[in-house]
Amino acid sequence: SQRQQQQQQPGTQRPPFGIAFDIDGVILRGRNPIGGSPQAIRRLYAHDGTLKIPFIFLTNGGGVPESKRATELSGLLGVQISPLQVVQGHSPFRELVKRFENELVVAVGKGEPATVMSEYGFKKVLSIDEYASYFDDIDPLSQYKAWSSKQAYDKNHMPRESQLSYNVLSDSVKGAFVVSDPVDWGRDIQVLCDILRSGGIPGREKGHQPPLYFAADDLEYQAAFPCERLGMGAFRIALESIFNKIHSSPLEYISFGKPNPFAFKNAEAVLRQIVSKTYNTGNIMNEAKEYKFSTIYMIGDNPSVDIKGANKAGDPWFSVLTRTGVFRGKDNHTQFPANLVVETVEEAIDYILKKEL
Ligand code: G3P
Ligand code: MG
Repeated sequence: SQRQQQQQQPGTQRPPFGIAFDIDGVILRGRNPIGGSPQAIRRLYAHDGTLKIPFIFLTNGGGVPESKRATELSGLLGVQISPLQVVQGHSPFRELVKRFENELVVAVGKGEPATVMSEYGFKKVLSIDEYASYFDDIDPLSQYKAWSSKQAYDKNHMPRESQLSYNVLSDSVKGAFVVSDPVDWGRDIQVLCDILRSGGIPGREKGHQPPLYFAADDLEYQAAFPCERLGMGAFRIALESIFNKIHSSPLEYISFGKPNPFAFKNAEAVLRQIVSKTYNTGNIMNEAKEYKFSTIYMIGDNPSVDIKGANKAGDPWFSVLTRTGVFRGKDNHTQFPANLVVETVEEAIDYILKKEL
């Protein structure tokens, strides 16, 4: 359309601001949209469905590839979300592929953690479910887990080790990645302790701890239950406390995700790429490097994650706290006060569009 052509002319006015949306507790609770999120997001698109305002989802959640999450969100919100617009806790794991490309790594968490890692380019990755299934008796409690006994990694149905190009039982795990919220905490803590204290092979003598990465460090998150649920940060505390009791040197690990300043730097870079693509002004890379936002709004529900992170990231970040998730306070949060407190994401978008357009 003419409108589209106009938009794609070099030099066309681009909005000088961008928006990063938290998902859990702002856009969704469980799988249900909240706070008028579908209407709010729709306002960021033109009538013909093209993106008008650059925005991303910046979530500490995950467990599925960005492309799949984009499709899910498109369905739930009724707009076209591109995979580039989905930045999950584990998205930065992509940057570690060079180091681990051909090394055996284990991926932990709900959903499809191994598929996520394979899509990033990791070639020898097993989910902890599959990995554990190769070691007889590694989990003395498995027989009591009626819910897990019919899993895909049932001995009779799992891929034979001989079909793999490597030997799971004798190959050292060179890295452990907690991709999404772990499902079977007891088994996962046991197997991770086995891997980490043996130097990569459960049951072996002690060795140097392989690197351990967490997609995020949320102590709690909102989800669908009336009060908060324990998140990846709670799992990290459990693992760390136990590991430090049974091992002479303390657990070493790196956590990604908000409130880590790296998450906000990366979000800004992704938003710049979206601007270049949307307004298609020639050389994408140069455009992306040059583009400077006047403001990037972080709309989140968790003061110690979303607001702390955005405030720490500083210019051009502006923090907006909703009351639809972890935060329910009457006034602003005392320890991590947001630049603006609103009831819902819909109210946040109303404020932003009135101010900016
Ligand atoms: O498991 C997801 C949760 O830890 C946080 O999600 O979207 O609020 O960053 P989000
Ligand atoms: Mg949240």
